[in-house]
Amino acid sequence: MRILGINALFHDPAAALVIDGRTVAAAEEERFSRRKHGKRPLPFSAWELPEQAARWCLDHAGIRPGDLDLVGYSFDPALARPAEQLGLDDPWDHVRLTYAREAPNFLAEALPGLDPAKVRFVPHHVAHAASAAFAADGDSDPSSVLVLDGRGEATSHLAARRVGPRLEQLAAQELPHSMGLVYEELTQHLGFLRSSDEYKVMAMASYGSPTSVAELRRHVYSTGDGGFHAAGVPWAGFAPALRPGQEWTPAHADLACSAQRVLEEVLLDLARWLHGRTHDRLLALAGGVALNCVANSRIAAEGPFERVWVQPAAGDAGTALGAALHLAASAGEQPEPMPGADLGRGWSDQELEAWLRGAAVPYQRSEDVAAEVARELAADGIVAWFQGRSEFGPRALGHRSLLAHPGRAANLERLNDVKGREQFRPVAPMVLADRAPKIFNGRHPSPYMLFVHEVAPAWRDRIPAVVHVDGTARIQSVDPVDDPLTARMLERFELLTGLPVVVNTSLNTAGRPMVDDVRDALECFGSAPIDLLALGPFVVRRGALFTGPDRSEARA
Ligand SMILES: [Fe+2]
Repeated sequence: MRILGINALFHDPAAALVIDGRTVAAAEEERFSRRKHGKRPLPFSAWELPEQAARWCLDHAGIRPGDLDLVGYSFDPALARPAEQLGLDDPWDHVRLTYAREAPNFLAEALPGLDPAKVRFVPHHVAHAASAAFAADGDSDPSSVLVLDGRGEATSHLAARRVGPRLEQLAAQELPHSMGLVYEELTQHLGFLRSSDEYKVMAMASYGSPTSVAELRRHVYSTGDGGFHAAGVPWAGFAPALRPGQEWTPAHADLACSAQRVLEEVLLDLARWLHGRTHDRLLALAGGVALNCVANSRIAAEGPFERVWVQPAAGDAGTALGAALHLAASAGEQPEPMPGADLGRGWSDQELEAWLRGAAVPYQRSEDVAAEVARELAADGIVAWFQGRSEFGPRALGHRSLLAHPGRAANLERLNDVKGREQFRPVAPMVLADRAPKIFNGRHPSPYMLFVHEVAPAWRDRIPAVVHVDGTARIQSVDPVDDPLTARMLERFELLTGLPVVVNTSLNTAGRPMVDDVRDALECFGSAPIDLLALGPFVVRRGALFTGPDRSEARA
C-alpha cells in the first residue's frame, strides 16, 4: 500500500511516504519554505499543510496523489474536548479543531486528485508511538513505548506496548498536566521562544545547581499509576521572568537545572512503571520531550530497560511518519525499521554540478573529497559538508553539517559566531563508532545524537571544542557501514591529527532551518565565513570564490 503521513496541526509540519511498510521518504516543510518549524503553533495557522514536503514525497516515489491508498493525519478531532474542559488557557482552540475536521478537504485541495475519503485521522500520541515502536531498529517486537509532548487531543502522554502490528495503550495522562507544556512555559519564562528553543534550557541547565528541586517537586511529580502531575508551576517565585535577549543570572541557570532534574525523575518513574507492566527489553521513545538527550541518557543508564531507542524526529514532524506506519500496520503490512535519518532530498553529481555552473562559482571535482575535507579541517578550516539525502528531524547527522577541528577550544566560539547564536550553546562531536567507547562513556552506538556522554578525562584537553561545561558531549557515532563517506573523512582526519572526532553542528545560520537544497548551501556558504563547501564530490573554496572562476572547471 502507498500511504502518505501528514503532520500539520500544531508545529513542525511534515510529510512521510511509506510504501508496502517501507519508509521511502520523509521531510519537514521548513526545509522547503525556509521558515523555522514551518509555522508558529497558533490555532490560526492550523489549516496550513506541509504541501511542498508532501508533493516532494510523491515526486520522489514517482506517484500521484490519486495513486495513494491512504493518508494518515496525525490528530483525531473526535478525541478532542473544548480547551476550557481540558484546563487549557487557549481561547481559540476551537478554530484549531474546526481546521482539523476539515483537513481531508484541505488535503484534497493541496494534492489535486486525492480522494478525501482516503484520509484517516490517527490519534496524535498513537502516531508518535508508532514512529518509535515500528521504526526502531533491531528486535522491537514486542517493545514498550513512551510518548511525552506538549499536548495531543486531550492528553500529553502515552505509555503503550507494541505487540506485532498492534499498539496496546497502558496509560495516558490527561491535560492540563503536561511535561512538555511545563518545559515550554519555562522556556518562555527564561526569555526564549516557546515550542522552539527548549534545547537552550537544557544547555543552560548545565550551568546551574539543582537548588529548587524539592520545591518544584510539589508541582511536578509522578502519581504512581503511570501518569503524573505537572501544571501550575509559579515560575516567578524561583527566578524573575526574562525578556527575549535579556541576560540570565545564576538563579535562572539554577531554575533550569532544577526543572531538568525533576523532569528526569518523572521520566524515570514512568519508565519503571511501564517496565513493571511489560518486562520488555526495548523502550522506544518519541514526543518532543524525547529530544531531551540528558533525560534520555538517564533513562538508558538508570532505567530498567536493556535498550532505549529514540525516534530521531521525536517532535511532531515524526508523527507524519508514525501516522503512515500505523496505518500500514493496521492494514496488515509489516512495517520495516526506518533505514536511517537521511530520508529527505538528495541530488545526483550531475545535478550538483549543474547548480554550481548555474551559480558561476569556482569549483573543483575532488579526487577524494573525504581526504580533502580532512586536510582542511586539520588546517583548522571550517567546512560545510553537504552529502547525500537531507536529515529528517532536527539534528545534522553528516548530510547537512558544519564541521571543524575539535582540538581548538576557540572553535566553539568561532562556530557560534558563524551561526550567530548564544555562546553558552555547545557544539557536538561526530566520532568513528569503533573509537567512541574509549573516548565517551555512555550508551553506544549513538547514531542520532539523542544521548549525552561523559568525555573521558584523558580526552577532555584533546577535544576541548566539543566538551560542554559539565564535561559531557552529545555524540553522533558514525558507522562505516551506514555512512562510508563520513566515516572515511573521520579516518583521514584521525591519520592527520590522531583524533577520530570532528566538531559537527547543523549547516544553517541562526533562526533559519537547516540547509536542505543546493541553493541554500550556496547562500549559507556565501554569507558565512566557511572556508570550504563540500557539495557531493565537488569543493568550493572561500579563497577561490573571490579570485574569479578562471582556475576552475566552471568555465571548462
Ligand atoms: Fe506531539
